[in-house]
Amino acid sequence: IAEQSIPAQLLAWYDVAARDLPWRSRPGQAADPYRVWLSEVMLQQTTVATVRPRFTAWVDRWPSVAALAAADEADVMAAWAGLGYYARARNLVKAARAVVADHGGAFPDTEAGLRALPGLGAYTAAAVAAIAFGERAVVVDANVERVVARLFAIETPLPAARPAIRAAADTITPDARAGDFAQAMMDLGATICTSRRPRCLLCPIRADCRAHAAGIEERLPAKAAK
Ligand code: ADE
Repeated sequence: IAEQSIPAQLLAWYDVAARDLPWRSRPGQAADPYRVWLSEVMLQQTTVATVRPRFTAWVDRWPSVAALAAADEADVMAAWAGLGYYARARNLVKAARAVVADHGGAFPDTEAGLRALPGLGAYTAAAVAAIAFGERAVVVDANVERVVARLFAIETPLPAARPAIRAAADTITPDARAGDFAQAMMDLGATICTSRRPRCLLCPIRADCRAHAAGIEERLPAKAAK
C-alpha cells in the first residue's frame, strides 16, 4: 500500500467533499475546542442527523465552556433529553467546571491533558486533540475502524482486531492536518465506505484498498460470532 499517498488523497477529497457540519470550522479557521468537544460527546451514541439541530440549540444557550460551567445541572440534564446516556450530560458539566476551575477556562491542548478531564475517554481526547489543536492523535471510531479494516484487509474479527486496526490507522495518520484527516476518515466511512453496499467507485483511496482488490470489502470488518 502506498501509505504516503493515502492521507494526501483523502485530504484532497475532504477539501471538496467535507460535510458542512455546524461544529466544523471554516477552512483556515481554528476550531473552537468547546464546540469540538461538545459535538464529539453528542455524536458518541447519536447520529449526525439527530445531533445537528441539538448542537445548534445547545451552543445558542451555552455558547462557551464558561457558560456551561455556570449552568444549573438540572437545566443541562433537561436540555439533553432524548439524546440518551445521561451520564454524558452529567460529565459535560463536570468537565466544563474542571476546565474553568483548574485550567483558567481554556481546554488543555494535548491528548494527555484532555484525557485527564472528567468523563473524557480515549476517543474523545484524541478527537479533540486532533480536530481542535492539530495534534497528531490517532482517532478511531466505528466508521474509521471499518475504513481501516478494509483498506488493510484486516480479517481478524472485532473486537480482537482493534489493536491491529489502531496500529494500521497510526501508519496513515499524517503529521499535518491530523484533525482534517480524522474527519475525512469519518466522512468517508459515513458516506462512501458504508457497512452495506459501499460505493467504492466514488472512493478517493480505492486504488489502495486491499479489501476492494480482493472483492471482500462488504465482509469487513468481520464480527466475532456471538
Ligand atoms: N462522528 C463523530 N465525530 C465526527 C466528526 N467530527 N465529523 C463527522 N462525524 C463524526
